[in-house]
Amino acid sequence: MPITESLCNSRFRASFAEPDQLLNAVKHLRAAGHRVLDTYTPFPVHGMDEAMGLKPSRLPRACLAFAVLGLAIAVGFQVWSSAIDYPLRTGGKPLVAIPAFIPVAFELTVLLAGLGVVASFFVVSHLRPRFHIPDLHPGSSDDRFIVAAELGPDVPFPTVAKEMSSLGATESCLLVDDRFHRESSFWDRPAGVGTLLVACLPSFLLVGSVLLLNRDFQQRNLSWDGGMGAPIAAQAYDSSGVLKGGKVLQPPPPGTLSRSASPALAFLAGKAEAERAGRELPNPFQPTQAHFNRGKVVYERVCATCHGREGDNNGSVIVARGAFAPTLLVSPVVRDMPDGRIFHIATFGGPTKMQGYGDLLSREDRWKVILYVRELQKAAARPIPAGGQP
Ligand code: HEC
Repeated sequence: MPITESLCNSRFRASFAEPDQLLNAVKHLRAAGHRVLDTYTPFPVHGMDEAMGLKPSRLPRACLAFAVLGLAIAVGFQVWSSAIDYPLRTGGKPLVAIPAFIPVAFELTVLLAGLGVVASFFVVSHLRPRFHIPDLHPGSSDDRFIVAAELGPDVPFPTVAKEMSSLGATESCLLVDDRFHRESSFWDRPAGVGTLLVACLPSFLLVGSVLLLNRDFQQRNLSWDGGMGAPIAAQAYDSSGVLKGGKVLQPPPPGTLSRSASPALAFLAGKAEAERAGRELPNPFQPTQAHFNRGKVVYERVCATCHGREGDNNGSVIVARGAFAPTLLVSPVVRDMPDGRIFHIATFGGPTKMQGYGDLLSREDRWKVILYVRELQKAAARPIPAGGQP
């Protein structure tokens, strides 16, 4: 492609050591009719945009546009989802509850504005990834203040160079347009889509491995850790192919002591066992006031429902409902029962209908309630005084 000498030799650069010198040079160049292309400084130089005659950035407009877009998406989606697609009234509030939408609307507005303005900047300035960026001057990103400009019509470069050095330029030279005169190497090309894909390869591999590992962990020996992450727990009553007795639950070793310190009851249910308990089990609790009080609580909460508060079936719910009547606790039958037998009944239940309370009441409570039943029996056996009050 034919390039005219004037085109490739009309651009030049000058570098300075101080920002003020650069500012002066830029003002001078513009006043002399040259076209300032750009300046390169290690930090923003105040007043440079005015000196260069730059128009205010158009980015705020892009920012506003993206902010409005974000706001519209946020409000629109929330209104659509909570008032149109799935109208569910919560706490009597209106479906379009603006205050509830504010956080999401704010976040999305800020997000789109921020990302959008950066993206617009890249697009407008034609910025895209490159492997090699032609260097204007080795100090352009370090400690030099550089101006690139185009010679005005009919001004020879040496004249400008002299002016520049009088303004403090450390050096100045004509620019040879890289694009036309240097043999472009592979690395000078802008990075293409292929490069982008190669750069993203590690992330693709990572995501792919997650998909690969995300298998059914309930299936043994298929997962990457051999199922250690999700062991299949055996339940207490499952049968087992490896444990003694073919069962998961194992009996405690011989000589094991109960943590509650009370040995297991060596009795089964049934009338014969109840009689044996009557012979073999004494009440371990003395009839003290404290034990009696506890027994009263247990009796009134549990036994009284069926046996009546006085043990005489008076107020019994099952009697009131017209069902059968429980044994009178104050009757001679129960009065003559030894404590151990009543304990057995409180634990395993009565001979016919009554259910046992062994799993609901503690062993102590089952003994103590008997102390209270005994007092009820004594009270019932007492003759009623003349006044009618016991
Ligand atoms: C749900 C109702 C109900 C409750 C609660 C209940 N019982 Fe009974 N109880 C009965 C009935 C019904 C009978 C008679 C039928 C039977 O013996 O199964 C009975 C019988 C008895 C007998 C006589 C058993 C015999 O051999 O004749 C005793 C003693 C006894 N209960 C004590 C208690 C004690 C102590 C409690 C409180 C821990 C209690 N019961 C709670 C319904 C109940």
